[in-house]
Amino acid sequence: MHRRSLLAALPLLSAGLAALASVTLALAPTAARAQGDYPSRTITIVVPFAAGGPTDTVTRLVAEGMGRDLGQTVVVENVGGAGGTLGAARVAQARPDGYTLLLHHIGMGTTPSLYRRLSYDPVGGFEPIGLVTEVPMTIIANKDIAANTLQDLVALVKRDTTGINYANAGIGAASHLCGLLLQKAIDAPMTTVPYRGTGPAMTDLIAGTVDVLCDQTTNTTSHIRAGAVKVFAVTTPQRLPSLPDVPTTAEAGLPGMEVTIWHGLYAPKGTPAPVIARLSKALQAALANESLARRFQDLGTEPVAAERATPAAHKAFWEADIAKWRPVIEAAGQYAD
Ligand code: MLT
Repeated sequence: MHRRSLLAALPLLSAGLAALASVTLALAPTAARAQGDYPSRTITIVVPFAAGGPTDTVTRLVAEGMGRDLGQTVVVENVGGAGGTLGAARVAQARPDGYTLLLHHIGMGTTPSLYRRLSYDPVGGFEPIGLVTEVPMTIIANKDIAANTLQDLVALVKRDTTGINYANAGIGAASHLCGLLLQKAIDAPMTTVPYRGTGPAMTDLIAGTVDVLCDQTTNTTSHIRAGAVKVFAVTTPQRLPSLPDVPTTAEAGLPGMEVTIWHGLYAPKGTPAPVIARLSKALQAALANESLARRFQDLGTEPVAAERATPAAHKAFWEADIAKWRPVIEAAGQYAD
């Protein structure tokens, strides 16, 4: 542009800049007001598994408590499939405004290594809000299986390799991880039957359509107490007060086959810090509620301490879990894609 024409354009340019500045200034209070008014409408927590499973159960209890503290409705949306990655993608790609959240579990620690071609960043796509709970697992089977103890199951699987099938909620699910650990401990394979969540898997287990399931106590306790399934062990070093007659895996002959499933709450990357802080406060209020704590205890778990339901504690725990599973998954060389 010639010098003369540039000078001639200056008034237009400065008017344009002034207009842009006024728009930005006008927007700033709106954005700040939006955060100040937060939450001003219904919040959705995505569960990346089908309704009726352990993640769904935990989330509905937390959503109710958070809604009370926030003074807003908090709804749960089930987006199952692909081991929880479809639901996680839905939240990673949502507007970072605090109205779409994700409640997920150990899968957030294994997915970054298990999946190599995702439509979203499994780590950089999220803001951790706080940890929620750590849930034990139980090894269970349909009532007609020809096994009454974990050692009977080990013998059956070794005898009938790949004839015994086990349900899980897809690669990266807690039920998938527990199944891998169980097959490693038995040193024999089972045939995998994937579901969109262990809610529907439990239905088929009780119906006898599938043989074995390793699932969280938040889904299995009521069915074990009702005698609807056979239970062989809990995957914790000590027996659970909620299932006192169920042996640990060590007592049942598979020492070291232990796993608990941590859960955390996330927002999309870029969600404003004041919104994250408000959500963490609401999560802590929900977890401090006596009736939620009693419900969790009845299901074999308990809320994490308030200092763990913070973004910093959750971030540190999550990063350490990713680092723990990466060498294990890479050594196994088994990937989801
Ligand atoms: C899993 O990882 O197995 C899921 O927690 C199952 C579920 O919540 O449906």
